[in-house]
Amino acid sequence: AQGVQRDIDGVLAVNGLTVSALKEQFGTPLFVMDEADFRARARSFKDAFDAAFADICGGVDVYYAGKSFLCTAVVKWVKEEGLRLDTASGGELAVAARAGIDGSRVALHGNNKSDAEINRALDMELGRIVVDSLDELERVAKIASGRGEKAKVMLRLTPGVHAHTHEFIATAHEDQKFGLSMAGDSTDQAGLSAAEEAVAAATSHSSIELLGVHCHIGSQIFEPDGFALAAEKLLRFLAAMQEKYSIVMPELDLGGGYGIAYTPVDTPRPAAEIAQAMAAVVRSTCAELGITAPRISIEPGRAIVGSTTFTLYEVGTLKTVRVDAPAAETGDTAGTPDQGGKNVTHPRRYVSVDGGMSDNARPVLYDADYSAILASRTSAAAPQLSRVVGKHCESGDIVVRDVYLPEDVAAGDLLAVPGTGAYCWALSSNYNYLARPGIVAVRDGSARLIVRGETEEDLLNRDMGV
Ligand code: LLP
Repeated sequence: AQGVQRDIDGVLAVNGLTVSALKEQFGTPLFVMDEADFRARARSFKDAFDAAFADICGGVDVYYAGKSFLCTAVVKWVKEEGLRLDTASGGELAVAARAGIDGSRVALHGNNKSDAEINRALDMELGRIVVDSLDELERVAKIASGRGEKAKVMLRLTPGVHAHTHEFIATAHEDQKFGLSMAGDSTDQAGLSAAEEAVAAATSHSSIELLGVHCHIGSQIFEPDGFALAAEKLLRFLAAMQEKYSIVMPELDLGGGYGIAYTPVDTPRPAAEIAQAMAAVVRSTCAELGITAPRISIEPGRAIVGSTTFTLYEVGTLKTVRVDAPAAETGDTAGTPDQGGKNVTHPRRYVSVDGGMSDNARPVLYDADYSAILASRTSAAAPQLSRVVGKHCESGDIVVRDVYLPEDVAAGDLLAVPGTGAYCWALSSNYNYLARPGIVAVRDGSARLIVRGETEEDLLNRDMGV
C-alpha cells in the first residue's frame, strides 16, 4: 500500500500508525487496508479507462468486482469514487443493499443464480443481470414477466480467448462452465451459436431488455492483447447481430482480470497502457465494421484492492531443517559448494505464524507467491532463507514459499505479507476452528475496524450443541 513506511524506530507504519499499535488494539492475524490507497487505485483505474475511451464512447463504466473483497465500507468508497459494483450472489447483493448503493449501478453475475437471487435483483432494480446460459435466460424472462417487469440483461459470451498470465491462446471454444459459446452450431441444428440463439431468444421476450454482451477472459493478466482480442470478437458479434436481426445493443462489458505485482518477478502493464491498447482495437474494429461503438464497461477487482492491504501476523514457532534441493531452485548458492550440478544441501528455516491457509488460501490453491517482511523492527542480522508457514494441520499450509528474513527473527516478531487485499479474506475459512481475521482500514493516521475479527463465540454459535 502507498502509505506504508517505517517509523523512526524501524517499525512498519501505515499512514503513521505502527503495526505494533495495530496489534495492540486489534490482535493478529489482521488485514490492514490503506483506505486512501484503495480510493486512489479505484480513481486511477477509472481515469485511465475514461481517458483512453473518451473519444470512442465518452468514457467507461467501471464495476468494482466485489468477489475480490467486499464489505459495506468498500461499497461506500466505490460509490464515492464514481465506480459501480459487480456482485455474484444474493449475499453480495445484500452487502450492496446495506451500503446503500443505487441498484442501477449494480450488476449481478453467476452461472447458477437461484430464483431468489433473480427476484432480489429485480427487487433492487439492478442495472444489469448478466445472463450466463440459455436456460437462465428463460428463467429470468419468466420471473420478470410474472412480476410484470422488464429485466435489464447482458449476455455473457465465451469469446474463445484463453488468457494466461503472460500470454493468451485463441481456442475454438472454451470447455468451462461459464457463458454462451460463440462457436457455430454449439447447441442448435440450424448452426447457430448458443450466443446467437440467446440474442434471438432475448429479443423475443417482452420481459427482457437486452443491453449488450459481456466477457471475462481470466484473471491476473499482465498484457493487453487478450483483452483486445476479446473486444474485437465481441464487436464483430454485435455487428453481425445488427446486420442479421437489426438489433443494436448499446453496451459491451470486457470483464476484469487486470494483474498486479505480488513479487518483483510480476510485471503487469500499467492500466493506462492496457486501456489504450484496448481502445485502439475498439476504435479500429468499429471503424472497419461501420458500427457505432457501444458504451464500454469493465470489472476490475484485484487491480483495485489487491495491493492496498497487507496481512499482519505474529511469529511463533521456528525450526530449521537441512534440505536437498537443486541450488538453482532456491538461488541459495552462497556457501554451498556446487557439487557438479547435483543437489546441494542447505538450511531452510520454517517460520510459523498465527494464521495461514484459512486467511490466505491462494498459495495452496494456485501456487501463488507472496513476500514477507519483518514489520515490528528492523534488523541488521544476516538474511536467512525462510519459509513462512501457517498453523494448520497440513504441510501445504504455506504463506510464503521462499523469502529471506533476518536470522534473528524470533517468536513475538510481527511479519507483514503485502498484496493480500484480493481473494484472501474473500476466500477465508474456519479450518481448524480458527477465527477469521478482522479488517482494519487506516486513514489519516487513524484505524477503523471495517469488519471485526471472529471470536470463539462466533465459532461456536452455529454449532447447535446437541
Ligand atoms: N468479472 C467476472 C465475471 C469475474 O468472474 C471476475 C473474477 C472478475 C470480474 C474480477 O477479476 P479480477 O479483476 O479480480 O481478476 N480466486 C482467484 C481469482 C478468481 C477470479 C474470479 N472471477 C484468485 O485468487 O486468483
